Amino acid sequence: MARETTLVLIKPDGMRRGLAGEIILRFERRGLELRGARLLKIPKQMAREHYAEHKGKPFFGSLVDFITSSPVLALAVSGESAISVVRTMMGATHPLDSAPGTIRGDYALELSENIVHGSDSKASARRELALFFPDGLV
Ligand code: RTP
Ligand code: MG
Repeated sequence: MARETTLVLIKPDGMRRGLAGEIILRFERRGLELRGARLLKIPKQMAREHYAEHKGKPFFGSLVDFITSSPVLALAVSGESAISVVRTMMGATHPLDSAPGTIRGDYALELSENIVHGSDSKASARRELALFFPDGLV
């Protein structure tokens, strides 16, 4: 067990639906801490870098179009085992498979509009935090 920091994105659908406060509240109540927050409209090239692992897949283009469609809130979230804790709190990738009580399980129905992103490993967290918070964290 160890203290970790992970990247969370509240995706365009989550922001458009006014769910940012609700999602932050869940992380804070769980005992996680915010160490960075940045509201931005992701440029296309940055989105391609962020989702580089999916390059070449049939949904890559629409994924990049969606994540760049309107502003996101990028959060650096820290705490004990934060990477896996956040992934568990998000729920399964497809909201129809997400358990009630998870963010996707409570607020989403569509695979392409699943509200949040969270880093899936230590290596992803390091890479994604550097991409969204190039000046470091507070
Ligand atoms: P994310 O990266 O956004 O946190 O989501 P994730 O780890 O749960 O899922 P991932 O496999 O990384 O997929 C990234 C996003 O791409 C969309 N997707 N579409 N059409 C498809 O088969 C498909 N598969 C994935 C989802 O919106 C997913 O969140
Ligand atoms: Mg992913």
